[in-house]
Amino acid sequence: MNASGTPPHPGDGRDPDGAVRAWRGLASDAVLLDGFHAVKHALRFGAAVPVALTSDRAAVLALADDLAPDVRAALDALLVEVPADTLRALVPRLHPTAVAALGSRPSRAEGLAALSRVPRTRPVVVLDQPRNLGNAGAVIRLAAGFGITGVITTGTLDPWHPTVVRGGAGLHFATVVERVEDAGQLPPGPLYALDAEGEDIRGLTLPDDAILAFGSERTGLSAPVRERADQLVSLPMNPRVSSYNLATSVAMTLFHWSTGHGPAV
Ligand SMILES: C[S@@+](CC[C@H](N)C(=O)[O-])C[C@H]1O[C@@H](n2cnc3c(N)ncnc32)[C@H](O)[C@@H]1O
Repeated sequence: MNASGTPPHPGDGRDPDGAVRAWRGLASDAVLLDGFHAVKHALRFGAAVPVALTSDRAAVLALADDLAPDVRAALDALLVEVPADTLRALVPRLHPTAVAALGSRPSRAEGLAALSRVPRTRPVVVLDQPRNLGNAGAVIRLAAGFGITGVITTGTLDPWHPTVVRGGAGLHFATVVERVEDAGQLPPGPLYALDAEGEDIRGLTLPDDAILAFGSERTGLSAPVRERADQLVSLPMNPRVSSYNLATSVAMTLFHWSTGHGPAV
């Protein structure tokens, strides 16, 4: 109980032991938001964030004053200061901003329903068996920036892996992100598959309901995605260059789609 007679909230800045207990109880099912930008974006885009810890509350609130006054009050209410070694024991690769939080993962059923909903007014990006966690994070950041419907991965990479969330700066909560086993589970819609042998993107208009598929870093598009594709699309590239980086290819394609659209909302 605190002075006002109400039980302390784990995030009210006065109960570090309770906040650490809450963290331990939630960590296995929650999304790790590691660093100021990830926490900021999660709060800004409406994630449920039951606990947030820092080893320097004043520094994090000063960052919020500078960079994100819109989430300052939410951070002030949530942030609990704990000793640096306690925080490092809970978050081994702690971000230099010394703040981390746990977010509640959105419902998979609702995510898959949103990705499959038609008519669709903004594309879905498919990463076909991606391997690199940093690429997946960068693509989710692009998806949020361009305000597209969402990102689906096929294969084994978990698009909610902490390294992906860190690479995506917590912007998973600004779009829809789900994994499916294989190409047979992709949503309906015209499928444009990006491949260096395809038709030059500069002569094409990508429709708003497009499914835009990108191959894996090592082997490119899988056979099932090629078979399902309505159109193979290439990005202009010097023929002596083998390929672009995956996330870079998504950036160019979304930029091409966005030409003629207003800013993302
Ligand atoms: C690193 S590349 C894959 C390279 C792979 N060795 C291959 O054989 O395709 C990853 C993905 O980025 C996209 N990509 C890269 N360069 C591209 C280009 N010039 N045109 C269209 N898509 C490209 C494709 O979707 C590709 O599967």
